[in-house]
Amino acid sequence: MTKQSFSTRDAVRDVYDRNARFYDLAVWGYYLAGMPIRKWRRMAVAALQLRPGDTVVEVGCGTGLNFELLHKAVGPNGRIVGIDISEGMLERARALVHDRGWQNVELVCGSVSDFEFPQGIGGIVAMGVLTYEPDFDKVVERGAKALLPGRRWVVLDYKMPGGWQRIFAPLFIALGSSFGVSKDLMNRHIWEAVERHLTNTQMRELYGGFVYIVSGEAH
Ligand SMILES: C[S@@+](CC[C@H](N)C(=O)[O-])C[C@H]1O[C@@H](n2cnc3c(N)ncnc32)[C@H](O)[C@@H]1O
Repeated sequence: MTKQSFSTRDAVRDVYDRNARFYDLAVWGYYLAGMPIRKWRRMAVAALQLRPGDTVVEVGCGTGLNFELLHKAVGPNGRIVGIDISEGMLERARALVHDRGWQNVELVCGSVSDFEFPQGIGGIVAMGVLTYEPDFDKVVERGAKALLPGRRWVVLDYKMPGGWQRIFAPLFIALGSSFGVSKDLMNRHIWEAVERHLTNTQMRELYGGFVYIVSGEAH
C-alpha cells in the first residue's frame, strides 16, 4: 500500500484510487487494532433515524460498506445516493450494488465540495470522510439546508483526544497513515461545524477519544 500525504483533494483521490482494492481488507485489519467498525457503522446508521421511503446521502461512500445497513433502513422504496471523489472506490461500490441487485442506489463521482445535495432529503452520513475535506464547514452547512426539518446529519470521524490518551497519537497515526491519518487532519474539528449548523446535536467519543460520532437535526 502506498503511503502519501493527503494535503489536497487530488492527493486524497489518487491515494484512494490506488489503494481501493486493499480498502475492505484494511478495514478488517482495523478490527485487529480493537476498532469495532461494524458496530460504529450500526451506530451511525441508527443515529440517522431513517424511515422507509427516505432518500439518504452518504458522503464519501467508498466501496459501499454502509450500503447494506442504509438499504435496510430506507427499504426498497427509499433511495441511497453515494458520492465519492475516488472512481477506484466507486468501481467497487458499483460492483457491490450490482451483485446485491439493489435498484435504488445512485453513485456520483466527484468532490463533496462541489456536490449539489438533493433537496428534501431524510438523512446524510459521512464516515471517515470530512476530515479530508478542507471546506467541511460549507459542506455541513449546505447539507443541513438540504435536509427536511428535523432530519439528521451524522458524522463519524477521528480526532485528537483531549486527555492523556493523546500519548497514543503516534500509534493511531501509524495505523491510519496509508489512508492519510495525520496530526493536521486530527486537529480539524468537524463536530463544531455540526454544532454550528444543526440543532439538538449529540456528540459521543469512542476509542479513547480518537473517534467520535456527532449528529444534529436540521432546523
Ligand atoms: C476512510 S474512506 C471511508 C469510506 C466509507 N465511508 C466507509 O465507511 O467505509 C474515505 C472516503 O472518502 C472519500 N473522500 C475523501 N475526500 C472526499 C471528498 N472531498 N469528496 C468526496 N469523497 C471524498 C475517499 O475517496 C474515500 O472513499
